[in-house]
Amino acid sequence: MTILLAIEPESAIAPWEERMRKLLPGRPLTTPRKLTDRAAIDYALSWRHATGALAHLPNLKAIFSLGAGVDHIFSDPLLPEAPVVRVIDKDLTNRMSEWVVLHALLHLRQQRLYDRRQAERHWEEDLAQPAARHVRVGVMGLGVLGGAAARKLKALGFKVAGWSRKPRHIRGIACFHGAAELDPMLAQTDILVALLPFTDETLGILDARLFSKLARDGRLGGPILINAGRGGLHVEKDIVEALDSGLLKAASLDVFETEPLPKASPLWRCRNVFITPHCAALSEPGAVSRAVAAQIKAFERGGRLKNVVDRLRGY
Ligand code: NDP
Ligand code: OXD
Repeated sequence: MTILLAIEPESAIAPWEERMRKLLPGRPLTTPRKLTDRAAIDYALSWRHATGALAHLPNLKAIFSLGAGVDHIFSDPLLPEAPVVRVIDKDLTNRMSEWVVLHALLHLRQQRLYDRRQAERHWEEDLAQPAARHVRVGVMGLGVLGGAAARKLKALGFKVAGWSRKPRHIRGIACFHGAAELDPMLAQTDILVALLPFTDETLGILDARLFSKLARDGRLGGPILINAGRGGLHVEKDIVEALDSGLLKAASLDVFETEPLPKASPLWRCRNVFITPHCAALSEPGAVSRAVAAQIKAFERGGRLKNVVDRLRGY
């Protein structure tokens, strides 16, 4: 009856271990490097576990992702069959909404330009300031995080649309779905927010072809890309070229093809790009450990696991 903390890097394990020990006292905890009795493991907590770390655990009942995304789990070719449970947590959802709203507003209010003016000690009052109600935001991915961000952007006055795989209905938001309805949404989007999971279907979806379909008649002087989903959704070479050519006016990126973003990446030098180090919505160990421990307790009382992801869909 042992819980495996398959968390990378190893230096990140301590806060999870401390919380799980308090929440499930008496329950042995171990890590892949210390594991001796593979048959003792009944649950695994995973964040970017090493390939094969969850293989050959004959009594494994569930794998808990410590993040909302599960691509880091499905990328393991030796993943066992046990159900994979993802995080749905108010704290994480709020953090993501904050990041998305912050960046939508930074672009709306031209903060980069004012930063440059400040550095030059240059005072200029009469720059054009479009109102949120004249700016169209398209959110790719209307799930837990995309849906919440879309609602908050709507509350600020933006004109919000969203796109999902299956039909969704969110009051006040124009909902599009499926491959056939993506282009119509892009054609009326000034700020594109990507909050999709990384799957075979979404790999490289944010490329030059897609950028060329975004609206070019908006009030911000060109389309803007905001990606906090995964780096695998976008093609960085296309983003850099699109920024250089004006196909994109600006971008905010929290996730990258390779993380940490290599020092040699040309993105670092792009003037109109806000870069954050995959920190849009951190999993807070306190909140997420409580959710995992509650699931384990409920499951052991005979309940069903919640938030189990669909392996075929990949999210
Ligand atoms: P959900 O599973 O709740 O939502 C995913 C959304 O994407 C759904 O609306 C889904 O459609 C849609 N979708 C998936 N595949 C497609 C497709 N092929 N075409 C159209 N729509 C599609 O995920 P969350 O909202 O919880 O999280 C989204 C992602 O955010 C995570 O997978 C993770 O990669 C990323 N993330 C990033 C963080 C960061 O700090 N940068 C932190 C946390 C998460 P449908 O509604 O039809 O199912
Ligand atoms: C997540 C993340 O998936 O932090 O939760 O990226």
